[in-house]
Amino acid sequence: NVLILDFGSQYTQLIARRVRELNIFCEIKPYNKLPDSLEEYKAVILSGSPFSVRAEDAPHPDLSQIKGKKPLLAICYGAQYLAHFHGGNVAPSNTREYGRARLTNIDGKEPFFYEITEGSQVWMSHSDTIKELPENAKRLASTSDVRNAAYKIEGETTYAIQFHPEVYHTTQGKQLLENFLVHIAGLKQTWTPDAFVDTTVAELKEKLGNDKVVLGLSGGVDSTVAGVLLNKAIGENLHCIFVNNGLLRKNEFQEVLDQYEHMGLNIKGVDASARFLDALKGVDDPEMKRKIIGRVFIEVFDDEAHKIKNVKWLAQGTIYPDVIESVSATGGPSATIKSHHNVGGLPDFMKLKVVEPLKMLFKDEVRRVGSSMQVDEERLGRHPFPGPGLAIRILGDITAEKVKILQEVDAIFINGLKEWNLYDDVWQAGAMLLPVNSVGVMGDERTYEKCVALRAVESTDGMTADWVNLPYEFLQKISNDIINKVPGVNRVVYDISSKPPATIEWE
Ligand code: XMP
Repeated sequence: NVLILDFGSQYTQLIARRVRELNIFCEIKPYNKLPDSLEEYKAVILSGSPFSVRAEDAPHPDLSQIKGKKPLLAICYGAQYLAHFHGGNVAPSNTREYGRARLTNIDGKEPFFYEITEGSQVWMSHSDTIKELPENAKRLASTSDVRNAAYKIEGETTYAIQFHPEVYHTTQGKQLLENFLVHIAGLKQTWTPDAFVDTTVAELKEKLGNDKVVLGLSGGVDSTVAGVLLNKAIGENLHCIFVNNGLLRKNEFQEVLDQYEHMGLNIKGVDASARFLDALKGVDDPEMKRKIIGRVFIEVFDDEAHKIKNVKWLAQGTIYPDVIESVSATGGPSATIKSHHNVGGLPDFMKLKVVEPLKMLFKDEVRRVGSSMQVDEERLGRHPFPGPGLAIRILGDITAEKVKILQEVDAIFINGLKEWNLYDDVWQAGAMLLPVNSVGVMGDERTYEKCVALRAVESTDGMTADWVNLPYEFLQKISNDIINKVPGVNRVVYDISSKPPATIEWE
């Protein structure tokens, strides 16, 4: 196990992902919340930071249990921190040290630079520079602008680098991390999806014994993989509930339910469409819609959970980015269901003990774990779909008729993306039903019908996104299909807005 001490760098999660790509497990902790015992950690990595070591409020961790005692790799701020507080000198740099650079004068005898080539490209991002190395330090490499680009402390397994090995622009960054973790710290590369499944299933068996567990499935990747994992551990004692809120994609409720049954999950499908649509009647405010859908979901889920006798646990598909404590955040970790809706006292199922088998995994790791358990690849590659479903893609109030129209439009668009092999190039796609009618002509008839907007975006996490340059021929075909096949729609537009300033969903 590797500890990554976070000083607030935008790249900290990337460090963790690179380490895990080497099949080595690691955890991120804020620098000011060091665990009491560090015994389980075999190596420590210090992250970068937006702070300058010279600033008064700069992170000032206690490294007494770490430096000189465990293999330590200090990146960027970390490297400056070690220099600044151990007899070196860090000062503002004259030139801007941002972007690509090339390593020179590499100390080829150092295991840290095993297989790293002279001139290798690295990524710099800092405004201070290390003018003088700390005590007992030895320079290991430079770049044209940065004399002390890498150093080690003699007599310790402490290494420090000014550049970022975790970003892709550092072309041999992964090799460097491997050199440090495997060749220097002696860690084994055994943390594979199969190994994760084996240990997690064993832990879940131990933790849950004969207890009953309830889990809400959504058809999404996280809840599905959590379900399959728990099913492996406790079988029939896992009670899955899949709620149809009437706002899912066309045929999705039945298809997903069949698939879950086929996977051997103990699943109950609950069609509560009418209840949701009833509660949403006449509501056009987006946040109100979200609140109502959240509330009705809780009610339906609570009713169902009550039907299971002696249930002890609530399982959730929470993943690592939801629970990492960030250096700047004031609040604690969030839990997916609980965060939104605890108004007016908690429903009973929320008083259950919580089990979150995926809470140490990143999204791509959830997919790999799913894949190693033979979860259908189409399900694992599914685009994200919002919890409130089509409700936030129907602008204005929601009626059963509008849902039906949008389901048809969405199905033509999504199936088209699959047929044209474009689905996997797109991070998320969907159609919006606009609250305007426009004039058209069909045959000799004047029409006055609905307009739909198609949206397809590229993104990595949904925080920022750009619209996808879909081929004109594809858009032409889809637009024709929609207007010809979906009664009530006479106009199709394509959304070419990036996020920010637009959002992915229209509501
Ligand atoms: P926006 O529209 O904020 O969406 O750019 C970013 C991502 O979040 C999804 N989204 C939601 N997911 N409940 C959800 O579970 C919601 O209320 C919600 N609103 C947006 C959206 O689909 C996109 O992936």
